[in-house]
Amino acid sequence: MNTIFKGDSINKGARILANMIKDSGITVILTGAGMDTESNIPDFRGRDGWWKNIDPRQVASIYTFDRDYPLFHEFYSMRIKILEGVEPHEGHYILADLEKKGLIDSIATQNVSGLHSRAGSNNVYELHGNIRTIRCNQCNNEGKLEDFLAGKDCSFCNNKALRPNVVLFGEALPMDAWSRAEEDIKKSQLLIIIGTSLEVYPVSYLPILTKGKIVLINNEDVNANYEFDIKLIGKAGEILKELDKYIA
Ligand code: OAD
Repeated sequence: MNTIFKGDSINKGARILANMIKDSGITVILTGAGMDTESNIPDFRGRDGWWKNIDPRQVASIYTFDRDYPLFHEFYSMRIKILEGVEPHEGHYILADLEKKGLIDSIATQNVSGLHSRAGSNNVYELHGNIRTIRCNQCNNEGKLEDFLAGKDCSFCNNKALRPNVVLFGEALPMDAWSRAEEDIKKSQLLIIIGTSLEVYPVSYLPILTKGKIVLINNEDVNANYEFDIKLIGKAGEILKELDKYIA
């Protein structure tokens, strides 16, 4: 089908999507950084995204962690500080409410902000980890956020190896979150993909697992080697508010 709704037709697309949600037995949401930009967290490949000025392999890789800890530390401290005072926006709360109403089953997210859980969603699979929790890369013990920010060594093994619990380039995804997301998407009758360029493997491959309908909500069209049933092009938060009007 691949029908695109944008501008004045968003309202029609939102109504169609609301009916798709009501008709679906199992609905899964897959989110990316575009879900969080309306909470003032920059995305990666959008107009003002992180990777416009920085090469991800230079800062967000296990290679940098091993060979240039100060650079790794500076980049992740900056990303953690950006989250200070950040709150979920209405779109996050609408998704949490849809779960409470039994209309969506789970959210698989590439975001490390933790905003879905903070908004009240329970079944959240953080495929790229969570930036607010810290562990030691040597002894694997939990660390404190303030110790990481202060550049302290691990208090258990004394190594300079504290790091946020995020997936770095060159690392595997967390097994548990990944297999739950795979399982849910395989069973899903509707998969709604929100705010992602779908450029990063293996998450970009997840949608092919569904036998159900696939919907995109993004502020630009994206390339994928699978068909979308409908695409709603615009701001995620605004589209979710529109959708919410037709859910009641
Ligand atoms: P990207 O930055 O690649 O894509 C975000 C998409 O959301 C882009 O298409 C934006 O245009 C769109 N967008 C931005 N704001 C939006 C809004 N308010 N409403 C709707 N769409 C909006 O982010 P991801 O696809 O999440 O991984 O990136 C995937 C991974 O690449 C990240 O998890 C991170 C990064 O490297 C690691 O660090 C391992």
